[in-house]
Amino acid sequence: MLTGRVAAERRFLYALRADVAASGEPLGDVDAEIGALLLEPVEGRGPSWHLSTDGERWQVREYVAHRSLYHLKEADPQAWVIPRLDGPAKAALVTVEHDEYGAGDPDRMHARLFADMMRVLDLDDRYGAYLDAAPAETLAEVNLMSLCGLHRALRGALVGQFAAVELTSSPGSDRLVRAMRRLRLPEAAVEFYAEHVEADAVHEQLVRRGVIAPLLAAEPALARDVVFGIRASGFLADRFGDRLLARWTRGRPSLLHPLPDAPRQVPG
Ligand SMILES: [Fe+2]
Ligand SMILES: [Fe+2]
Repeated sequence: MLTGRVAAERRFLYALRADVAASGEPLGDVDAEIGALLLEPVEGRGPSWHLSTDGERWQVREYVAHRSLYHLKEADPQAWVIPRLDGPAKAALVTVEHDEYGAGDPDRMHARLFADMMRVLDLDDRYGAYLDAAPAETLAEVNLMSLCGLHRALRGALVGQFAAVELTSSPGSDRLVRAMRRLRLPEAAVEFYAEHVEADAVHEQLVRRGVIAPLLAAEPALARDVVFGIRASGFLADRFGDRLLARWTRGRPSLLHPLPDAPRQVPG
């Protein structure tokens, strides 16, 4: 079992490093990388942009089913990095994680809010219910977190991945709130993304100033890994988004086993 996992991790990481290297820019300038993340385009691409303007109800449900592979265990893979950090970086990361876990209120745990949303959208909220329906593009994003969380040597990459999510989540969540309201979905479905519009605006600051700055002050050699984590996260997010949009623009479902309200697969 472990031998198999090690072999899979090596292949995955090797391919990911090659894909990130293909972007051409040298790894290392964390400030420039974060600056690029914070530049919100006037008109972007990706599922949340599409859903906010033209998305249909079945597409929102598909998106949520894909994302359930992560959000139903939200913040768990990042919790693995806690013992691999020290001092101020550890304290700040735990502060963010505390929020992700509901700040002491189990009903406010982000994973719980996601499950609540799934039920309102008539989706199965058991963990892994959509595992067999998820394409590789969906699983790769989740695997990146688990892989980096499980290895001390990849702690810089995990922090980069966490930063990429926290720094870009707020505007993306806002678009999903707008998508759901535009489609007149029940207000109870909006809660998860509405929470992230506000929470991640705060988490953005905490991760930048509280986690990354002291981490790199103590261990400057981790800068390359932090940038790798940011870029790998962005690369996989784009690939996931591209798959969904490629299917949706042809009127096709993006899950391998379509939901009942998705259009029927047309051969070819
Ligand atoms: Fe969250
Ligand atoms: Fe967050």
